[in-house]
This record gives sequence, structure tokens and C-alpha cells, in this order.
Amino acid sequence: MLRSHTCGELRMSHVGTEVELCGWVQKLRDKGGMVWIDLRDRYGLTQLIFQEGETAPELLEKAKSVGREYVIKAKGQVVERFAKNDKMPTGDIEIKVSELEFLNKAEVPPFVIEDETDGGDDLRMKYRYLDLRRGVVREKLQLRHKMMQQTRAYLDSQDFIETETPVLIKSTPEGARDFIVPSRINQGQFYALPQSPQTFKQLLMVSGFDRYYQIVKCFRDEDLRADRQPEFTQIDCEMSFVEQEDILQIFEGLAKHLFKNVKGVEVGDFQRMQYADAMKFYGSDKPDIRFEMKFVELDSVAKGKGFNVFDASELVAGIVVPKGAEYTRKQLDAITDWVKRPQIGAKGLVYVKCNEDGSFKSSVDKFYSQEDLAEWAKLANAEKGDLMLVLSGDLNHTRKALGELRLEMGERLGLRDKNTFAPLWVLDFPLLEWDEESERYHAMHHPFTSPKTEDIPLLDTKPGEVRANAYDMVINGVEIGGGSIRIHDRSTQELMFKHLGFSEQEAKEQFGFLMEAFEYGAPPHGGVAFGFDRLCALFGGSDSIRDYIAFPKNNSGRDLMIDSPSEIALEQLDELGIGIKEGAKN
Ligand code: AMO
Repeated sequence: MLRSHTCGELRMSHVGTEVELCGWVQKLRDKGGMVWIDLRDRYGLTQLIFQEGETAPELLEKAKSVGREYVIKAKGQVVERFAKNDKMPTGDIEIKVSELEFLNKAEVPPFVIEDETDGGDDLRMKYRYLDLRRGVVREKLQLRHKMMQQTRAYLDSQDFIETETPVLIKSTPEGARDFIVPSRINQGQFYALPQSPQTFKQLLMVSGFDRYYQIVKCFRDEDLRADRQPEFTQIDCEMSFVEQEDILQIFEGLAKHLFKNVKGVEVGDFQRMQYADAMKFYGSDKPDIRFEMKFVELDSVAKGKGFNVFDASELVAGIVVPKGAEYTRKQLDAITDWVKRPQIGAKGLVYVKCNEDGSFKSSVDKFYSQEDLAEWAKLANAEKGDLMLVLSGDLNHTRKALGELRLEMGERLGLRDKNTFAPLWVLDFPLLEWDEESERYHAMHHPFTSPKTEDIPLLDTKPGEVRANAYDMVINGVEIGGGSIRIHDRSTQELMFKHLGFSEQEAKEQFGFLMEAFEYGAPPHGGVAFGFDRLCALFGGSDSIRDYIAFPKNNSGRDLMIDSPSEIALEQLDELGIGIKEGAKN
């Protein structure tokens, strides 16, 4: 070892000890006769001191020549500090240096490598290896490491076998586009990178593995957002001889284990909510239940009073903002503008103030009497001093917009505290989802999800109403994981493909291997996958998963550091059989 100690461990008890430290120069203070250097490594900061009269003159000069981010080795004695710094764990001591060695010089970094930095996003991504030197960034990845270890510890304790599955596969339809890899030795043919190891984990169940997991990279070529990366990590799991309830118990157990062992938080038993209720009361399949503000459907009291907008609407629904009656006209206008933004897409907003004196003031006073509005308030449980915000239109859009408004109001009222965790299971998702563009049904989760037995007859008559044995784990409004009990017999799987519009031939070509496997003794099975990056970001109190990935891509799917994706040589393309042929270039 080049060092005897790290930069984070020396205390008063070490005073008098000769030590050797290595690290990066965080800061140099030169007061002429005195020089201080803050030396940084992964473990912390330690102050080095050089002092005229005590330090050899050449050594003092050498210390003065040190630049930011130089990698140095210092030998010296631990001494008690004259002016202690109680903000630093090593703030009681400093090192009186007797030998100084430059292990490597450094260019001036393009941004300040401290918790507060002056580097913008792009610059920090280009020099991600420097960004990762910052304590606040490294801590996020240390949290990720801890989550990974605790995940393995829990699943191992439950007899899960960690198994790797291939990365060069054939496409699995999970709803997103595949990343494609051309094959050189099979020209004109392509591998796909897995969107998830779904079919492989099911095959492992056919193999009798019984309990499988993998912390695994998945790849999806989809539009990126704060909680989406083109390559991301799942905790992917599958179990045999289980029913939905078993899966919910085991994986609620995983989440509780992580909360307890990583965050020191005891979360109680998870709430459970039907998908239909999540949509009806929160306008979302991933409701944030850290706060109430549930939707109230007002059709029965708001329609038929001559207000055309409501009368022509499929749904009139609102939320109650506690103590919101004090909002000024300006504030209400601002909220109205907010819901009219294209991202939210509401045409307008109706408000009703429930005044302290028992009267009501609304934006639709022309159409509704005080008695009418009293009925609204009664239905919505709005109290004196509260504000009702009401949207209307077709069912799905209105619910979605009101859901966004609910989240926004929750945010404005400070009801979405990052240190409060409100987990739930959303259950009974629909099996199929109508896709306007392709004018056919798609599997809402994936084609291997089993329908509820009692709903199978509806497949022919009302496919949209068939419920699936599918569930999502949602925490603080984030979809953390999802899974299902699978189909495990050939005939049901064939039926499913038929309803998804696959011809027999297509189904066989794409999934013949799975259906064949089902004929060799497939056990009943089911599973779940968690978005590991999302879980880490949630635990770290951040909305963006990027900070929890060592080398992430930006919102255009680019790695600014290695500058990828990039063009490749024509020869390389040719070799893969996808090049532009010589002569065709012009
Ligand atoms: P699903 O597609 O729901 O299920 O994915 C599981 C979880 O993965 C996370 N996730 C993502 N995280 C970051 N970036 C992305 N682009 C991204 N896409 C998804 C989400 C999501 O809940 N094979 C099934 C699981 C199963 O049925 O067992 C699957 O992949 O947190």
C-alpha cells in the first residue's frame, strides 16, 4: 500500500502517529509562511500543514507548487489542530508534513470538484470521471452498491438462485423498440438486446429452478425522461408454484428489507388498490398516496343545470384543496394557465371557493345557485375555507389532467415530502389495451401475462374488460416494479397471441420455443421486475435516475464522454453485411 491511512479516518486518538496519505488536492491555501492543503480521497478530507521554521524550505516551496487535483502522497505526523473544524470528521487534527511526493500532476479541471459545483449538466457528463470525484455524487453510487448488496442478501435468504441470461437474444415484445445488433457470421441476420429477460426466466421455471433472480441490464429504444434510460437495471425475479398473493408477500418483504437495512425506515404493510380505483380516484395507475386529495365525481350535481360545457362532458370531477379559499384571483388564473398548458391539455378550470361565512364563490356562478354549490361541497366533503378545482371532458383525458393537477397542488402544498414513503400495490390491471395507432389490442403488461380465469369468456366479447393477474409496486407516485402470474400452457398462450393479432405462423416463429417448452411440463409460475435505478433514486430522494448510474446517457441517448453513438467505418459495415457496397457510394 502506498498509504498507511485514508483521508477520512484520522482522529485525536491518532495524534503523534507517523502516517502516509494519498489523494487528490482539493484546495491549497498559501499564506506565505504557512501552506494548507486539503487532501481528498473516497473516504474524506484531511488537512496537511506546511509551516516556515518547521518545514524545510524546499518542501514549503514544493507545497506551494501543488495544483488542484494533483495526485500526491504526503508523509508526516498527526498533530492536534490549533483551530478545529467541527464540520469535518477529521477536523480536530492535521498532518505536519515531512515528505511530499507528486504521484501525478493534473490539468485545471473544467469545473469545481466540490459538493457545490459550477459545472453544467453537459460539462459534468463529458467529464463524468471528474464528476464522480465529488462526494455528493459518489454517495449516490455508494447507496446503489448498498441496495444491490441488500437485495442479494434478502433474495439469497429466500433461496433464489442468481442466474445470468444472454444479452444477444431475439426480440421480446415488451412494448418498446429493440436495440439491434447485426451478426457478422450470419449475414443479414440480427440479434436484439433484451428489453428484459422475460422469456428466459420463464424457461428457467420450466427447468425447475423454482426461484430465480438477476440484477440485470435491460435495453429499450424509447423516448427518454428523467426516470428512463435506454439501458437500465432491473431486479428481475421469477417463482414457481405460486399464486399472486405469494409474490406480493415475498416482494413486499424485499422492499421492507431494503427500507429497513438501507434507510433505517420501517414501512408498514403496503396498501392495495384496484387498477380501476386508482384511475377513478387518482387518474393514474401509479398514484402518489402520500396525500389524500382524491377525485370526486360531480356529474350527478353538476350536469343538467344549463352549463353546456359540463352537460356535454363524459366526466365532471374535482379535487378539494384544503384551505384553498384564500387563493387570490391571480393565483387561480395561474393554476388555470397551468392546466391549459399542452402537456396537461385541459380546456379550462372551474373553481369553487367555500368561504368561511358559509357562502360560495365560483367561476360558474352564472349557472349554479348557492344551493347547487352547497351540494357540490357536500358531495366532495369540502369544508369552509377549502377550494374545489373542477375539470371536465372525456373520461380518460379528464382523469389524466386532474391527476396532474392533484400532483401539482400536492407539490405546492408541500405534501410530497421526499422522506415520507407511501408504497402500494396496484392490482388487477386490464389484460389488453387498445392502441389507436395500430387499431388493435396490445398486451398491457406483456403477452405472457395470464388473464383472470373468470374473465376469459370476455376475451371474445369485451376484450378491453378482461382483467389480468398483473400487479405493480408503486412508491410515492413512481412505478417501481411490475409483474404477473404467467400463462403456462400452450393453448392459453396461443389464444392470447390470437387476440393480440398474431397469425399462427407469426406466433410460432417468434415464440415457438416458449410454447414448445410449455409442452414439456411447465409449472405454474409468476414473477416481477423492479426498476433498480428508480428504486435507488427514490431512496436517495431524487426524481432523476441519471445520478444513480455511474456512466449514464443524456436525454438524447448520448454518452457525451465517449461520444456515442458514433459512426463506424464503411469496412466495418461491409463486414457485417449492412454496408453500402463500393460503387453505390455515389
Ligand atoms: P416492466 O416493463 O414493467 O416489466 O419493467 C419493470 C420495471 O422496470 C423499470 N423500467 C425502467 N427503468 C428505467 N428506464 C427505463 N427505460 C425503464 N423501463 C422500465 C420500471 C418498471 O416497473 N419483464 C417484465 C417484468 C415481469 O413481468 O416480471 C418487465 O420488464 O420501474
